[in-house]
Amino acid sequence: MKRAGLVVVLIVFALFAVAVQGFAKKAGTRSGAALFKQNCSPCHPDGGNIINPQKTLHKKDREANNIKKPQDIVNKMRNPGPGMTKFDEKTIPYKEALKIAKYILKTFK
Ligand code: HEC
Repeated sequence: MKRAGLVVVLIVFALFAVAVQGFAKKAGTRSGAALFKQNCSPCHPDGGNIINPQKTLHKKDREANNIKKPQDIVNKMRNPGPGMTKFDEKTIPYKEALKIAKYILKTFK
């Protein structure tokens, strides 16, 4: 009988964990890294740029193009240059866009 009780507790716990995970996704708590991987890395693998190699996400290129602050990166997503997908508020809400921007600034030096 003791065993059965333990199994029930484990099942309840597992269900709870799944529920929390689902909720976290809805609330937009995906990390900047995960968001970057999903939306940006197809064209910017490792912070590079497979379409326009002069415009990577590394500091030297970014700063040469005046992209220095998180907001500059968000602006780029909203108004991309030739060859880049446009990411509007509906595709990537501001909070998530900002997370991606901060991730880029701290990751690609
Ligand atoms: C379809 C390919 C593609 C995708 C997907 C893409 N980009 Fe780009 N990205 C480009 C191209 C091409 C450029 C150069 C455009 C230009 O001339 O401004 C660029 C330029 C940039 C720049 C300016 C870099 C510099 O040195 O001037 C930033 C910042 C940037 N992208 C961020 C992002 C972010 C953040 C995402 C994901 C939300 C993303 N990109 C997704 C193709 C892409």
